[in-house]
Amino acid sequence: MPAISAYAPGKIILFGEHAVVYGRPALAVPVMQVKARAAVLANPRGASGLIRIEAPDVQITSNLSDLPDDHPFQTVARMVCEELKIQSLPAMTIRLSSTIPTASGLGSGAAISVALIRALSAFLGHPMADEKVNALAYETERYYHGSPSGIDNTVITYAMPVYFVRDQPIERLTIARPFTVIIADTGIKSPTIEAVSDVRRCWQVDSDRYERLFDQIGQIARSARQILESGETDRLGRMMVQNHTLLCEIGVSSAALDTLVLAAMDAGAQGAKLCGGGRGGNMIALVDPENAEKVAQALNRAGACRTIITEVK
Ligand code: PMV
Repeated sequence: MPAISAYAPGKIILFGEHAVVYGRPALAVPVMQVKARAAVLANPRGASGLIRIEAPDVQITSNLSDLPDDHPFQTVARMVCEELKIQSLPAMTIRLSSTIPTASGLGSGAAISVALIRALSAFLGHPMADEKVNALAYETERYYHGSPSGIDNTVITYAMPVYFVRDQPIERLTIARPFTVIIADTGIKSPTIEAVSDVRRCWQVDSDRYERLFDQIGQIARSARQILESGETDRLGRMMVQNHTLLCEIGVSSAALDTLVLAAMDAGAQGAKLCGGGRGGNMIALVDPENAEKVAQALNRAGACRTIITEVK
């Protein structure tokens, strides 16, 4: 029997990370140049329930049962069984691979979960609808984010631009005029759960100040939506810089991220900001398409270990 495989893209948050955990809106788009893949193969000679996991990108080659109970791969297998009312899984090998850098703000954890849920449910003869895939992937996000807003699993499951508000129906974000973004990686791994937990501690200590910062970020996300939907994108770059400044005040930027933001602006980007959980990981820069190579080179010189030029549409 051939392997059943499924894919899921990466993502970037254009506006609103962290504030989105506290109910403010955020805008996110999929990034199709990077993706996670899950492939499930039957193992007819294996004992029932023997699930072999091969995930070299995260240094896992083991039996599923040897992973911690709260590990996302265990969570997915458990939830898919519950959902499909299956007592025990047949023997199989699951191969997971991804070109999305881990712990870097591009949604690698959510993408692996989405690909795995899709491949496993299809392998069991019951491919799940996006709504269900999204709901299950959200549960695995607790492992990566602690208290996830749900934005990563949503934009990745539906692979479309979204205007996202926690616990509200999903809204598609219309991009009236495509634009070019460079994604640049500091190369510093930064687990989202740590940044999200630190922000929560600060918010508990000084909730008035943090609520004000979240309000300002939410306002930027709302205005950015209008701008993107009208196609009059002149102010977009400035709004990215404002969003970055607010993320610095929240305490989730870092010297490496600020260096890349400045390098992009010096090289002629219209705007730039960190993207995702922060502290390390990736930043994004809004550029004129004809200036993209020049800004990407400046980012590489300033220390980026990888750049991706992508058209948001
Ligand atoms: O997974 P990351 O690093 O792209 O961050 C997701 C965005 C946060 O707002 C920081 C967390 C969340 O759950 O929304």
